[in-house]
Amino acid sequence: MELPPRLKQAVDQMLEHHSLDELSRASARLTSRYRSELRDGQFHINDAISAKAYIAARLPATFAAVRAALSMVEEAHADFVPKTMLDFGAGPGTALWAASDCWPGLEQAVMVEASPTIRAVGQSLSEGLSTVACDWRAGDVLKNSTDLAPADLVTLAYVLDEIEARDIAPVVARLWSLTLDTIVIVEPGTSAGWRRILDARRVLIDAGAHVVAPCPHAQNCPIVAPDWCHFARRVARSRLHRLVKQGDVPWEDEKYIFIAASRKPARTPAARVLAPPKTSSGMARLKLCRADGSAGEVVISRRDGDMFREARRADWGDSLGGPATESQGDDA
Ligand SMILES: C[S@@+](CC[C@H](N)C(=O)[O-])C[C@H]1O[C@@H](n2cnc3c(N)ncnc32)[C@H](O)[C@@H]1O
Repeated sequence: MELPPRLKQAVDQMLEHHSLDELSRASARLTSRYRSELRDGQFHINDAISAKAYIAARLPATFAAVRAALSMVEEAHADFVPKTMLDFGAGPGTALWAASDCWPGLEQAVMVEASPTIRAVGQSLSEGLSTVACDWRAGDVLKNSTDLAPADLVTLAYVLDEIEARDIAPVVARLWSLTLDTIVIVEPGTSAGWRRILDARRVLIDAGAHVVAPCPHAQNCPIVAPDWCHFARRVARSRLHRLVKQGDVPWEDEKYIFIAASRKPARTPAARVLAPPKTSSGMARLKLCRADGSAGEVVISRRDGDMFREARRADWGDSLGGPATESQGDDA
């Protein structure tokens, strides 16, 4: 996956006069802070160079993850056409670009971000998105804000890992109260990211939300640690991206996990593929999460006919069997 051309052009322009060494060092610092999930009272993106390093090295991957999550939402919730959006921990506006790519009819977005440096970068990049009226605000996702109007789509991407575990439930509950239709929460596809998504999922289901994606059911997650649920999206690396990350290959695989839930029932599929399928000429071995709340590996052979043909084409993250059920939950 690549960034939308207008975003890529705006990013390239913003980075053109920066020293590669400086960007590489700032990118390595950011990576080490993210990997260790350091919480030292400072924002990870706390100066101009770390903001530039983020858009050079992380934005392509977080965009790919959010966009992939939104595609699964779109598939399960075909009637959903958001006009308004609220994004928290907006950073450089990743979720805004992904949402307007998925739903070109998006009209208005309120972007809440605590760090002034990345907010300024995001605001400047979003000037290239002429179809959406964007309102960038300084704000803390941990605090109650009375001046935010609910929106059709509420997003929180790669933010839960920057807040304390005890804050997850109240933050998710508050964001749900601002959601007119659908909320999407994305995290890195690590086991810790999955556990945070499980906490968010529980809060949403207890509040009466209908699960939209990726789970094909609203029962307890059947995955048992040390295993964890996550997906991956291949991200094209530009020359600068590769140089900043000192990588050799022109791509990277971004692992992510998310939960999307709605006030309206969604058409969840019969099953979701939870790992890269293993296929041979007469057989497909798939790890599935199923609508009945179970998960496990299934072997489908040529004798299974249409099911085999569908399984052979399936990829990690795909839905199988078409929409099976309207998701469970109370209309809130
Ligand atoms: C990893 S970045 C993700 C940015 C963007 N959502 C994305 O997916 O690329 C996390 C962002 O959340 C912001 N953030 C962290 N804690 C926050 C808080 N309490 N309130 C608002 N924003 C916060 C950070 O400043 C940073 O811009």
